[in-house]
Amino acid sequence: MISRKTRKLDHVRYALELADTYAATSGFEDLFLVHNALPELNDDAIDCSCVFMGKRLRAPLMINAITGGHTRLVEINQGLARAAAATGIAMAVGSQQAALDDPLVRHTFTVAREENPDGLLLANLSAQCSVDEALQAVEMICADGIQLHLNVNQELAMHEGDTDFRGVRDNIERLVKSLPVPVVVKEVGFGMAREVVVALYQAGVRYVDVSGWGGTNFAAIEGKRGGKGGAFLERWGIPTAISLLEALSTGLPVTIIASGGLRTPLDMALALAAGASLTAIAGPFLKELVEKGWDGLVCYINDLISGLRQVMMLTGAGDLAALARKPLVVTGFTAEWLKRRGVDVDVYARR
Ligand SMILES: Cc1cc2nc3c(=O)[nH]c(=O)nc-3n(C[C@H](O)[C@H](O)[C@H](O)COP(=O)(O)O)c2cc1C
Repeated sequence: MISRKTRKLDHVRYALELADTYAATSGFEDLFLVHNALPELNDDAIDCSCVFMGKRLRAPLMINAITGGHTRLVEINQGLARAAAATGIAMAVGSQQAALDDPLVRHTFTVAREENPDGLLLANLSAQCSVDEALQAVEMICADGIQLHLNVNQELAMHEGDTDFRGVRDNIERLVKSLPVPVVVKEVGFGMAREVVVALYQAGVRYVDVSGWGGTNFAAIEGKRGGKGGAFLERWGIPTAISLLEALSTGLPVTIIASGGLRTPLDMALALAAGASLTAIAGPFLKELVEKGWDGLVCYINDLISGLRQVMMLTGAGDLAALARKPLVVTGFTAEWLKRRGVDVDVYARR
């Protein structure tokens, strides 16, 4: 039997090994903001800060759920949290199930709160967890909210993965009703269709991270671990740009987080212009931290934020609300998919 703790080490190892090998794209190459040669803005006045779950962030960016749960991983959460504190962005820890099973590894998660006492920090567990487990996860790191992950494709690809996914929707409804903090339901890199977003809304969920296809690929990572899935599972999923536009097309009052294969300030700006309230990145932040240390990660995050400000200048957007009103042209495969799904993407280009 492979222990959960060993699996956590494998995930980090193979995520790093595979990081630059994915040929997939998250679909943002099909989206274009329109260049504004007359922005009439001074760089000093561009404001990309935002308030998320009641806390001010320097930029709409989060270090998405990555890890914890093995003593060898404490330095990773320490470095990620230090970088989040230094740059004023949000952070989520990886699944805390290992610490619920074994209190000896709690410190691999609590270190994130110790390093960033005032920052926006999210807990993380499977959407199949119990109310008591979710309460313990939140309390463990004084979390501002909790992410519940949906990971069907990963479980199917995983050697020791689950195969019974009944009752998850009702469980989420119970969790949302019982927890004292906001609940984010997230994928882990395979995206969500609009029907799923509607079902989650009906279950009471008001925060969704689409975490689409095109970045870190957990079917490939589980394949490296000797998984039981076919290689086709690696090609299964909804590219992030499509998933994001599907989610937004519901028109529901749900706060949407864009993640999965976001790699550049332009990807971030495109997601925010489409209507995402926050962007999130996992794999590249892990790689930067392991290769260059926490201060290297701080430089990387600061470069993303200054790049976002440059795109805002190039569109003439002085703040994030203005960016979300700028014309956005959706082309190619993404436009084709959305048209066939009955989503009118031309409204973005005409605004
Ligand atoms: C090493 C590693 C471990 C991860 N573990 C978790 C996890 O425990 N819980 C979770 O919800 N997502 C987890 N994820 C998924 C990320 O939060 C994110 O949804 C996914 O990696 C897509 O984003 P990216 O392309 O920017 O990496 C993990 C990602 C990585 C790279």
